[in-house]
Amino acid sequence: MIELRGVSQVFRSRDREKVVALHDIALDVAENEFVCIVGPSGCGKSTLLRLVAGLIEPTRGGISVGGVPVTRPREDVGIVFQKPTLLPWASVLDNVLMPLKLMGRPTAQARPRAQELLRMVGLEGFESRLPGELSGGMQQRAAICRALIHDPPILLMDEPFGALDALTREEMTLELLEIWQRRRKTIVFVTHSITEAVLLADKVVVMSARPGRIVQVLDVDVPRPRAFEQEALPAFQRIAGTVRALIFSNRRLPRDA
Ligand SMILES: Nc1ncnc2c1ncn2[C@@H]1O[C@H](COP(=O)(O)OP(=O)(O)O)[C@@H](O)[C@H]1O
Ligand SMILES: [Mg+2]
Repeated sequence: MIELRGVSQVFRSRDREKVVALHDIALDVAENEFVCIVGPSGCGKSTLLRLVAGLIEPTRGGISVGGVPVTRPREDVGIVFQKPTLLPWASVLDNVLMPLKLMGRPTAQARPRAQELLRMVGLEGFESRLPGELSGGMQQRAAICRALIHDPPILLMDEPFGALDALTREEMTLELLEIWQRRRKTIVFVTHSITEAVLLADKVVVMSARPGRIVQVLDVDVPRPRAFEQEALPAFQRIAGTVRALIFSNRRLPRDA
């Protein structure tokens, strides 16, 4: 469903030096698959998601979704950024409804659904607040509702639970699994947490330090439905250990050291 072929991304930093963020990435994500991307900070995970979302154009290579080349942002994608990025002057409810507004769709009949999503993430009663009145974690939960409002078949999530406290994070993890199972979405999920990756994913993509490359793609053979208790299982421990070792041995390339 999502295909990347020979994708490289080069940025120019402020001193005009070239930054190779991604080098020769090939990746396939099947329909309804849950793929997690892990790797050291700065290895190009966010860049990869922004490319798939059509927010930036690759320097080299091609990206397609459902056989169609990605050239601009798409309506069938919901995206959760690493930072909440809510509009500061709009209420929480209006922020959640924003994607529909931007697509020129009616928002009135979507209000119950927006309220239902906000209830799901524990933001009932905060609908008319402004983002600035919420904590970072609450803003991020509102941003997750915003990504889900139009029920997109594809979800791109960039460390969406990073700003949440441990308990909320666990709740949201299980809620996301539930949504994915119920609505059969295709999800690409970036995380720092190896446990989170193994708990969520069908496949874990391990990336190396800059320039970001795919080191390995591991299949997660832990049975579903998944639960946090499975962390103790040998199969879970085995794959988490492999992911950890791969990240550790690919933290830095010699020329970066
Ligand atoms: N717009 C940009 N301009 C210049 N450099 C960028 C830009 N976006 C990202 N980079 C650089 O590309 C590399 C990868 O960044 P990023 O994708 O944010 O990594 P990650 O999400 O894995 O931490 C970093 O070195 C970062 O500084
Ligand atoms: Mg990032």
